[in-house]
Formats: sequence, structure tokens, C-alpha cells
Amino acid sequence: METREQLYEGKAKTLYATDDPRLLVQHFKDDATAFNAQKRGTIHDKGVVNNRMSEYLFRYLEEHGIHTHFVERTDDRRMVVQRLTMLPIEVIVRNRIAGSLAKRLGVAEGTAAKQRIIEFSLKSDELGDPLLTDDHILALGLVEAAELAQVKEVTGRIADLLTAFFAERGLELIDFKIELGHDADGRLTLGDEICPDTMRLWDMATGEKKDKDRFRHDLGDVEETYQEVLARVLAD
Ligand code: TMP
Ligand code: ASP
Repeated sequence: METREQLYEGKAKTLYATDDPRLLVQHFKDDATAFNAQKRGTIHDKGVVNNRMSEYLFRYLEEHGIHTHFVERTDDRRMVVQRLTMLPIEVIVRNRIAGSLAKRLGVAEGTAAKQRIIEFSLKSDELGDPLLTDDHILALGLVEAAELAQVKEVTGRIADLLTAFFAERGLELIDFKIELGHDADGRLTLGDEICPDTMRLWDMATGEKKDKDRFRHDLGDVEETYQEVLARVLAD
């Protein structure tokens, strides 16, 4: 398989076409942004960590019946993935109330939630990924009703699997973001990446933040934390 032209450059990843129309190469960069790119920086070897961690978690989810776009990791910063037609929404799962939701609702970071929250936002950097209700999604025709139900069902299963996975490694999964799309056969498939950029993980013993919040809020030990989380994920 040959890598061809660049298709898209995002904040943390670049996507390339390949000589196979069904496959893309996803390249993980060290660039870090926060707050819709108002804050920018570099996290040394973040791309390597996120590539390895995404590979591990995609394999774990596949083993547990979740369709993902992962095909193979080809080097430190690249993986081959299936080409998906992405849904125009991001899906956020919150086990506790933290981050933007804590701020918006005026509650303490880490407030317990009586039930798991599944939240959607419009994929639009220009608009700052605004929150979407189910009615917004259906009224705008972003996703059909039956598929929205399927998105929630598969997201719930992913949440259960990831929450258990990290708990076994002494990390509480506070929240995370995923992106879904359709593969060439029209199957709903998990895409994008799963790594400390796209989730909040708190150490169950110390309460310490073990994710991109260390960069967002200048908490220090950013690189060390990414390496530590990868080591815990790979530990088995
Ligand atoms: P939030 O609290 O800022 O809304 O973030 C919720 C979760 O989604 C958190 O785990 C970080 C992740 N996230 C992304 O992966 N990409 C984004 O652009 C944003 C805003 C959040
Ligand atoms: N990566 C996103 C951005 O640049 C948001 C975040 O992770 O905080 O804005």
C-alpha cells in the first residue's frame, strides 16, 4: 500500500489518501490546541503516545464487538484506517460533570452525575462545536432518528467497555469524545482516535488529572503524564 496525497490537516492529525480507495493513513502530530485553538503548543511525542494508545483501544473495542476504522499501525506516528463517511456530529460521554459542562452549569469540577450523560455537538471549528439537542439533530437532518438511536446504543457500549478498561488500570474515566461514520458497506463505525487528548482520566488513588487538562490548564508534567497513561494502558 502506498501513501498518496494529503486529504486533510486537523489540529492533532493529518489524513492521507492511499492507492486503495477504501483506506487512509492517519498521522498523529505533537501539536496541541485547546479552547478551539485559542491556546497552542507542542507536547513532545504526544503523536507517538496517541497512535499507540488508539491502536490498543481500537483493538480492545474490536475484540468486544465494536466496529472501528482501525486496520494496522505502520510506524510510531501512523496507522492505516478504513475510509469513513463521518457523521457531522461529535459524541461526548460524561460519567461525571467536568470541563465545559461544569463551567456552563456552575457546578464543581467532578460533580457526580446521577446517570451517564451522552451529549452531541456540531462538528464546526468556525462555530466552536456548538451543543446539539436530539431535536436539533433531527430537525436539521444531521442524522436520521433510527441511526441516532443506534449511535446512542453503540456509544453506551463503548462507554461501558472503556470505563471498565481504565478502572482496571486505576484510572477513572470522567468523560470522552468519539466520532462515528459509515464504512464502505454502510456500517456504523468508530473513527478518529481515543487517547488522552479526547478523554479525561483521573487517578483513582490520588485524584490527579492524567490527560490533556494538564496542557489546557498548565498543570505541568504534560509529557510525563502521556507516557504514564500509555504505560498503564499497555501494562495488561
Ligand atoms: P469538554 O468538557 O471541554 O466539553 O470536553 C469533554 C470531553 O471531550 C473531554 O474528554 C475532552 C473531549 N474533547 C475533545 O476530544 N475535543 C474537543 O474539541 C473538545 C472540546 C473536547
Ligand atoms: N482540541 C480542541 C481545540 O483546539 C479542544 C480541546 O481539546 O480542548 O480546540
